[in-house]
Amino acid sequence: MRRAIFPGSFDPVTNGHLDIIERGCKLFDEIIIAILVNPEKKPMFTIDERREMIAEVVMSIKQNQCRLLVEDFRGLLVQYAVERSADAIVRGIRAISDYEYELQMALMNRRLEPRIETVFMMPAEVYSYVSSRLVKEVFLLGGSVEGLVPPSVEERMRKKNGLK
Ligand code: PNS
Repeated sequence: MRRAIFPGSFDPVTNGHLDIIERGCKLFDEIIIAILVNPEKKPMFTIDERREMIAEVVMSIKQNQCRLLVEDFRGLLVQYAVERSADAIVRGIRAISDYEYELQMALMNRRLEPRIETVFMMPAEVYSYVSSRLVKEVFLLGGSVEGLVPPSVEERMRKKNGLK
């Protein structure tokens, strides 16, 4: 049984995240989508809301091959990964610009915990520019985020921000 952790802020979950989860499912028997609890950030959605949103949108993937769990974690990612007996950490890499930061994290995580491998996966090209940060920025400035996040997430973004 191969178990991976897919960590992130997921504020909110995007179609790019879902694409990576779907691809990860081809490699792992179980993926734990792990939301970082970061008191220093001011998120759009609470941890509970993010957990609910992710659980909702991964339903479609769930019917396929792998088991998907949604959890949250505090502190060091590798410590959490060991506690959950994970074999690997999955991270999505969109462009070369992501690589530098991701490489730093992967190597630091390896130094802290050599038993856990980091697996980089590339999303579909159509999501290569999609990030939660940009989705929020575009949305808050009145731009369309259709196709970048699942419809239920867009709906929640509207409600959260008092829009119809
Ligand atoms: O979606 P994000 O914000 O790019 O995810 C970043 C995340 C959660 C993977 C990273 O910040 C993280 O692992 N934080 C946990 C604290 C930790 O382990 N820090 C050391 C990383 S080398």
